Amino acid sequence: MQAMTRTDGNLPADVTSFVGRRREVAALRDQLGASRLVTLTGVGGVGKTRMALRVAAESQKAFPDGAFFVELAALEDATLLADTVASALGVENHTTRTPLSQLSHQLADKHMLIVLDNCEHISEACAELVHELLRGAPRIRFLVTSRHSLGVLGEQIFTVPPLSTPRVGACFRASSLQEFDSVALLRARAANSVSDFDITDDNSALVARLCERLDGIPLAIELAAARLRTLPVGEVLDRLDRRFQLLSAGNSSGLPRHQTLAALIDWSYALCSVKEQTLWARLSVFAGSFALPAAEAICAGDGISPDEILDLVDALVRKSILIVERSGEHLRYRLLETLREYGRDRLAETAASAHVQLEHLKYFQRLAELSFEEWCGPRQAAWLARLRAEHSNLRSAFDRCIELGHADQACTFAAALQWFWIAGGNLGEGRVWLGQALVASAGREPSHARAKAMWVDSYLALLRGELVTAGTLLDEVQGFAATVDAPALRGYVAQLRGMAALFAGELDDAKV
Ligand SMILES: Nc1ncnc2c1ncn2[C@@H]1O[C@H](COP(=O)(O)OP(=O)(O)OP(=O)(O)O)[C@@H](O)[C@H]1O
Ligand SMILES: [Mg+2]
Repeated sequence: MQAMTRTDGNLPADVTSFVGRRREVAALRDQLGASRLVTLTGVGGVGKTRMALRVAAESQKAFPDGAFFVELAALEDATLLADTVASALGVENHTTRTPLSQLSHQLADKHMLIVLDNCEHISEACAELVHELLRGAPRIRFLVTSRHSLGVLGEQIFTVPPLSTPRVGACFRASSLQEFDSVALLRARAANSVSDFDITDDNSALVARLCERLDGIPLAIELAAARLRTLPVGEVLDRLDRRFQLLSAGNSSGLPRHQTLAALIDWSYALCSVKEQTLWARLSVFAGSFALPAAEAICAGDGISPDEILDLVDALVRKSILIVERSGEHLRYRLLETLREYGRDRLAETAASAHVQLEHLKYFQRLAELSFEEWCGPRQAAWLARLRAEHSNLRSAFDRCIELGHADQACTFAAALQWFWIAGGNLGEGRVWLGQALVASAGREPSHARAKAMWVDSYLALLRGELVTAGTLLDEVQGFAATVDAPALRGYVAQLRGMAALFAGELDDAKV
């Protein structure tokens, strides 16, 4: 069975207002009209992802098969890239084709826009995928965001500039200042946090200087706007000046943009309470977004009680460290990639690092097991949605399990997601996980966990039509089942043997 289920697209809605960029958006749309692959590059926090989403939303109508957003920041294992793209697009693979060739096959006649977001850490794999799909699917276009170009033939680079800022030394009235995008962003974000902040003729010179100081980098502006909650604009500027002077000592040409942002992130960190700092660092353990109960379960301890997490998360949201995303009834939180990287560095400096990672692993393994236990019941659709929302976290927890060499645990974890692999259309990825778990457990004492993983792996192989592989796996499970008291396992083996015979057209064997 092959299917491509979604056709409208999956662009996420804006969580905060989009400001300015009229000229850049128009230029990028033109470029996308002229080239099938446009890569947005630029320093962290300059607004690549927001621009790509904006242009995708505005161009959506020109793509009858939809515009799709594939977030890759949280993907650590480049071998799962094609599966990740397929899953975002709703392309299922119940065949023996490789995920990439199945994608290429399914997209061959599609007229679609695909946004690949944050490709820098897996740029080789992205280059290969994009190259293959450009060749195999002539009406697909790509918008890619990456701190570096992909280096694919035909790639057009769009360097995302900082937001426009007032010229230093020029004199501006409050009304004319708002024409600059950086000022408009500062104002919009400050208005979110401070009701009485406004730009007046009295503070316009300071506001202009602040935006210029921040190099027009949107993320830096958002972090500084959060400071306006407690400090007047002049104070924010003074403190920033002092920080930058330390950094640029001996360098009269000013700070490169990435240092500006780094200094601002440092400053935001320094201005957090110790508990907020600790939580920021611990939250970096999540891949992609997370829900509050997960943060309470994983990040509490050592001076932070679970009850405090909500208030601390709230404080980090107000400081623009965390962003809030709404999915249906539920709220999820996310650290922007640049802030997550910073948090990860802080976490690595602490003794708690390994503990938090282990808690993350335990939490998501338990989630996988619960999904299995409750699958047959009224909450099945809710479970599938939840597992999809946690896909990146599940992956990252599983990768940790493999890194730690916890073979039986890895087998149990991968097998517990059996229905996610099957009903979620992730057979290929399921086989990759189970394969990794089985490699980790090879040569060890046979165990129930290994036998279960083999059984599930052979089930997935059967559904993909890999009858020989399924048979080999079942032989080993059967050998193990004969040596232990495991009637259920023997029952499952018989069931799969029957299925295998049925798929092979051996109807008499299938009946037995
Ligand atoms: N034009 C804009 N209007 C409003 N907010 C913006 C705009 N551009 C960027 N931002 C905000 O600035 C922050 C950083 O932007 P974004 O995440 O797009 O940067 P990025 O270049 O993709 O960073 P990274 O390299 O870390 O992925 C986000 O909170 C984003 O919402
Ligand atoms: Mg980005």
